[in-house]
Amino acid sequence: MARNILEVKNLVKYFPVRKFGKKQFVKAVDNLSFSIRDGEIFGVLGESGCGKSTLGRVINRLEQEQSGTIELLGETISGKEYRKDREFRRKMQMVFQNPYDSFDPRVMIYKSIDLPMKINGIDSSPENRLAKMIETMNHAKLTPAEGLLTRYPHELSGGQLQRISILRSVLLNPKFIVADECVSMLDVSVRAGVLNLLLSTQKELGSAMLFITHDISVATYICGRIMVLYAGKIMEIASGEDILRSPLHPYSRALVSYSPTITREEKQRYRISGEVVTPIDPPPGCRFASRCPIVQKKCAVEEPTLRPMGNNRQVACHYV
Ligand SMILES: Nc1ncnc2c1ncn2[C@@H]1O[C@H](COP(=O)(O)OP(=O)(O)OP(=O)(O)O)[C@@H](O)[C@H]1O
Ligand SMILES: [Mg+2]
Repeated sequence: MARNILEVKNLVKYFPVRKFGKKQFVKAVDNLSFSIRDGEIFGVLGESGCGKSTLGRVINRLEQEQSGTIELLGETISGKEYRKDREFRRKMQMVFQNPYDSFDPRVMIYKSIDLPMKINGIDSSPENRLAKMIETMNHAKLTPAEGLLTRYPHELSGGQLQRISILRSVLLNPKFIVADECVSMLDVSVRAGVLNLLLSTQKELGSAMLFITHDISVATYICGRIMVLYAGKIMEIASGEDILRSPLHPYSRALVSYSPTITREEKQRYRISGEVVTPIDPPPGCRFASRCPIVQKKCAVEEPTLRPMGNNRQVACHYV
């Protein structure tokens, strides 16, 4: 059995907001516990505002949690400031949604890749670093590598630049990668290329990944297991296949209704109505209750806990 590379326990991140002059809290990440195994692509799936990016940013230490613990390779990384910690950055890399934000527009691609490799001690010789870059790019069919490396970010397509930004992270041999909506800005035609690059490099590195997406098709294509979030809470954790073939939680079902691979009857059966809620000082009970097609009285008063359902899956619902 693979060991856990990341252990998250009771993680909490609230943001203070003012509503009609009163101080309240957006409970963006509310008491989440889960673990990610070595070599696993672990998906975080849910609609806009459910806390996916906040979770990714807290794990990546761009944001501090209120409480809870995070362990990376058995070492506690929560409660610490790692923003500029080189050793930590080498272990954990992040790929963002917009590749044009991840590169300095005035710096040639070669320099943008070389500098982090140099700083992180990947190789002391510039020639060796360049050779590694070219080899990795050729491997990813980003050719001619030399021609691409001497360009500036705006001289590349979004798909090319995103693949280069993934390779830049990968060249640092990270143990863990957080990828936040890394294909959602790209054309459907280049998405598969970027996803396949992530899959193949992840396999080669044997690293693990937290893969954030709102797209059920992308999630089930790339992820081993998927964690479904709603308004800051975990609704279900299951393999991509289980989520797609037999979603248990009514919210997972609603997400699956967007998948092009299911039948029209399933689509009808799974669909829900209503708008996604922002968890500002949410009422007790299940966060999903206001949109749930199988809601009962108990759901408004008692919050369902995440319980095991066999086959490595967990569901937070009183009535599945
Ligand atoms: N710095 C902040 N201050 C106040 N509220 C915030 C802050 N950052 C996030 N939030 C709120 O926390 C909630 C979760 O936001 P988050 O960005 O994590 O969602 P998301 O799932 O990544 O959404 P999307 O799919 O749109 O990227 C939202 O309600 C958001 O408005
Ligand atoms: Mg986000």
